[in-house]
Amino acid sequence: MLKGRSLIDTMDFSIEEVEEVLELANQIISNPEEFSHLCKGKLLATLFYEPSTRTRLSFEAAMLRLGGEVLGFSEPNSSSVSKGESIADTVKTIGCYADIMAMRHPKEGAPQVAAEHSPVPVINAGDGGHQHPTQTLTDLLTIKAAKGRLSNLTIGLCGDLKFGRTVHSLIKAMSRYENNKFILISPQELKIPEYLKKKLEKEQIYFSEIEKLDEVIGELDILYMTRVQKERFFNEEDYIRLKDSYILDEEKMEKASKDMIVLHPLPRVNEISYEVDNDPRAYYFKQVKYGMYVRMALIAKLLGVK
Ligand code: NCD
Repeated sequence: MLKGRSLIDTMDFSIEEVEEVLELANQIISNPEEFSHLCKGKLLATLFYEPSTRTRLSFEAAMLRLGGEVLGFSEPNSSSVSKGESIADTVKTIGCYADIMAMRHPKEGAPQVAAEHSPVPVINAGDGGHQHPTQTLTDLLTIKAAKGRLSNLTIGLCGDLKFGRTVHSLIKAMSRYENNKFILISPQELKIPEYLKKKLEKEQIYFSEIEKLDEVIGELDILYMTRVQKERFFNEEDYIRLKDSYILDEEKMEKASKDMIVLHPLPRVNEISYEVDNDPRAYYFKQVKYGMYVRMALIAKLLGVK
């Protein structure tokens, strides 16, 4: 039962519950009209303590397309947060107005604290360098649509694997399905965090760490590109040195299989050349659309509307 629950970590939902959400998303995709009044009279609050256009608008579009309404802030300095209000008090208050909320926060764990105090479901819309479970639902829906399965896949994750929360959530989620392999492509300084590596080792899930994309691109079913997370660097010099570590262009794409798909949570900075956008294997803009549908399904499930 998903009604009344929060989604903070990708692993909060069982495989079956994830499937339930993806299933509903697919129903919505095939007949959006049928769902366009599902959330009439319901209100979504978006609490964005960190800049975002894509994810916030995706949540808002999702709720509006379900016939619900939205309110919220994207600039914490213009709210009571700037007066020093705690997260607990903010969500207790907003929980009096809204039926569900989506929170993005620069501090890891903040949405968890919110969920503990909120009278209504809380959705983690990204917490620091930690997790981004709705991006992961988006990725799963996209992968399933493109590949027809979530198992037996060789997944290359490339770029900032240290700070990239979408990568952390996706690895956790995909490691639950059978026989997936992870090829982790990053500079030395931007490898996945130790806790994730330990998890994969403990569960005996295959992964390899490598620096060169060219050497492995031919083996991949999925290439998940990521942006170097500028805002999480302590010094500008390191960022400048690492920011263009990988640039996917058509020359590299020629070495990839014709069935490989390219995903990217966006925003893109330099990691994918614009020329790749016209390649049929480029899935990142389709992924954006799946993101809205999966958020529609998630909101409906957590609200328990039918
Ligand atoms: C991602 C994020 O916020 O972590 N963006 C998104 O939500 N689509 C990726 C990123 O910012 O690089």
